Formats: sequence, C-alpha cells, structure tokens
Amino acid sequence: MDSIIVSGGTPLNGEIAIGGAKNACLALMPAALLTDEPLTLTNAPRLADIATMRALLESLGCEVAALQEGRALALSAATIASRKAHYDIVRKMRASILVLGPLLAREGAAEVSLPGGCAIGARPVDLHLAGLEKLGATLELRDGYVYAAAPNGLRGAEVAFPFVSVGATENVMMAATLAKGVTRLSNAAREPEIVDLARCLRAMGARIEGEGTSTIAIEGVDRLRGATHRVIADRIELGTYMLAPAIAGGEIEFLGVERGLVAALIDLLEAADVAVEDTARGLKVRRRNGVVRAMRVTTAPYPGFPTDLQAQLMALLTQAEGESVIEETIFENRFMHVPELMRMGADIRVKGGEARVRGPAKLRGAPVMASDLRASAGLILAGLAAEGETTVARVYHLDRGYERVEEKLSRCGARIARVRG
Ligand code: UD1
Repeated sequence: MDSIIVSGGTPLNGEIAIGGAKNACLALMPAALLTDEPLTLTNAPRLADIATMRALLESLGCEVAALQEGRALALSAATIASRKAHYDIVRKMRASILVLGPLLAREGAAEVSLPGGCAIGARPVDLHLAGLEKLGATLELRDGYVYAAAPNGLRGAEVAFPFVSVGATENVMMAATLAKGVTRLSNAAREPEIVDLARCLRAMGARIEGEGTSTIAIEGVDRLRGATHRVIADRIELGTYMLAPAIAGGEIEFLGVERGLVAALIDLLEAADVAVEDTARGLKVRRRNGVVRAMRVTTAPYPGFPTDLQAQLMALLTQAEGESVIEETIFENRFMHVPELMRMGADIRVKGGEARVRGPAKLRGAPVMASDLRASAGLILAGLAAEGETTVARVYHLDRGYERVEEKLSRCGARIARVRG
C-alpha cells in the first residue's frame, strides 16, 4: 500500500488545475443507463471511484470507452445485459446505489446489492428506496439485495424527503425522467452536483425544473437520447487545496473554478484573514500576514459548509488563534482524523458531534493513518503545517477522490512524495 510523506514549513506558490467533480461524475455516469444512445462526459476526473463506477456499469452491459487519456468517457447502454449490481462491486462504493433508479426506470426491474455501512457512519439508503416506492416501484430486501420492480413503468408522484439527501435526490430524479406524469421532489438537495445532473438529463431530453432549489419538478418523457456533457469542477478538491496556502502561507491560483462553488468556505477563510481573489482564470488564495482567527463552523447541506471539507478545515483550525468549534451534523462518525491530528500535537476535544480545537498548536510530523477519503486530505494538510516528516498511510482512500495530490502540491513548492509499497 502506498503512503505519502509530507514535510511542512514551506510556503506554497503556483497554480493548481482543478479536475472534474468526482461526485458529479458518479451520478452522471449511471444516467447513461437511461438511454440506448451514447452519453459522453468530458472533464471527467481520473480517480479510483470513477473506475469502480465504470466496472459496475460494464457489468450491466454498458460499454464505456475512455477518451482523451481518461478525461472523457463515452458511455453506451444500447442494451442492458444484466439488471443485477453485484455485491462485489457495490460494497466498494456507496454511490453504486445510483444505478438503481435508472435501471428500474429503463428496464422495469433491478437487483442492487445494499451498499452497507462505511467508516464515517451507518448511511442507510432508506430515502432512495422510499422515493422509488412513491414512484410505484415494489421493493423487497432479501439476501443483502434490493429487488425492485415496476413492470408497468414508474408513475410521477410527490416525493417529500424528510431530510436532505444528495444521493436520494439524484436517484429519484433520474428514475422520474422516464416515469409517466409529473414528479415533484420537495426538500431536495441543492448541491451543484444535482444542478449538473439536471443539466445533463435535460440535454438528454428530460423535462426538469427547479434544480438548485429545494423543489424539483420532473415531467416524465417516453425516451431519452444521447448527449455530450462537461462535468463541473470539483468543489471539494478545490476547497481542499484552497486550505493549503491558508495553512502553509504563500499564494496559489486555482484554474477553471469560480467562487460560487465554495462560497461557504470563502466566507470562513475571509473571516479567518485569508484573502480570496477572483482572477481571469479562476481564484487566487493568499494568507494575509496576520494570524488565522478561531471560528465556529457547522456542517450542513449545500449552500452550507460541506461535511466533505470538515477534516481539511480542522487542519487549518489547529493553527488558528483561540478555540474553534466544529459541529458535524451530516455524519455521526466523522471525526476519525482527530486522534491522528492529536498524535501530531493538535489540541482537540470531541464530545458527541462537536469538536473543540484549540490553537495555535505546534504540530510535529508523525506516522498517521488515513481512515477515509477526506480525513486523508486533512492529514496531508496538517503535514504541511508540521515540523518534520508526516507519513500518511493507506493512501488508497485518497486516490478514490484526489488525482495526483503529490504532483499538484509539489509543483507549488510543497515537500511531498509518494512512497510505493
Ligand atoms: C454525498 C456525497 C458525499 C457527501 C454527502 C453529503 C456522493 C457520491 N457522495 O453522499 O461525498 O459527504 O453527499 O454531502 O455524491 N441518509 C439516510 N438515508 C438515505 C440517504 C442518506 O439516512 O437513504 C443519511 C446519511 O447517512 C447521511 C445523510 O443522510 O447522514 C446525508 O447523506 P447523503 O446526502 O445521502 O449523502 P450521499 O449521497 O451518500
């Protein structure tokens, strides 16, 4: 297993190109199952999770060709060869559940393994299932699989989500594009990835309104056609790297992005005395000379502060003056980076869903263990602030969601390297 070694203490200067959004791409790829014509996605990120979704789609009979060195994916589900998403693939990635809605809508039947728990919390799929049931599907849970059927097709319905779920919104939205009649989703997720999916579906011929608000209306059509769609920029990759100059000092320009993607983070950074400037090519981030100030942050669905940046922000707050409070409201077990940060010298106390971070702490390099994707990124950021070498083990988590971290950061002057093992 590879590890990454980071040595802190160097300011970072340069530019970083931000890739296509992993989470948008993971929802866009299953949309290919909704049509027998080809769907081409450009600006695709080259990540382990994308390879997993590709393998899953191929197992269903969807042909996937990587073009432009993997930066574009041509997906063609002319026929569906299998309606079964096997445990062997689904267990690797929760987003696999996103094939359920499209398969059911196109084929009238689907068998999808339940994704099961993962390190950051229980994460059930009950909202996905309840939404599809509202559209007229019959569901049965047996042997770890969801058996879904809608032999006479799905019907439009009112679906009111009891709380916001990104995945459930995507799954039901995709299924509703081929249902008879109108579906209205209320308390829908408003994430940019939802907006991106709606735009792609519309390019495929779907009738959708209201994406980006909490009420989305979908009028079903008989069939969807092929399209070419550019995946939006990855706001979590962007937010992660924006924290790097905030932690290490220096100035980095981020290419191909705009501030609307990370508005909640920018508000916090500006309050913490980190400057974020619009440029012709994207955004420039620079730590002002002053100290970073402590803050209170609560994770929330978009447009709130994303849970996927919580671990990375915590790395910055170990360096802030005073006591910061981070409240995690989305996942119940998403502080696993805390003991690792404490091994590096951070002063953090966790009680329930709240972490109190006292800074500035003098961090020292240490061997640490990544527990999940975003935690790994948080530990690398902490390594940039630490004296001496930090070795982050289990980098396969990181490779699920970040393309060549070590290259992007070392080009800005960071002392970081991957050790193959
Ligand atoms: C997506 C993102 C993930 C991000 C999360 C929250 C993808 C591929 N992943 O995950 O990176 O951290 O949004 O922004 O886009 N829940 C239920 N029942 C359900 C569905 C969700 O209880 O049927 C709970 C989850 O356990 C969690 C909360 O709802 O506590 C939000 O989850 P959700 O928005 O669905 O996250 P994902 O779509 O899985």
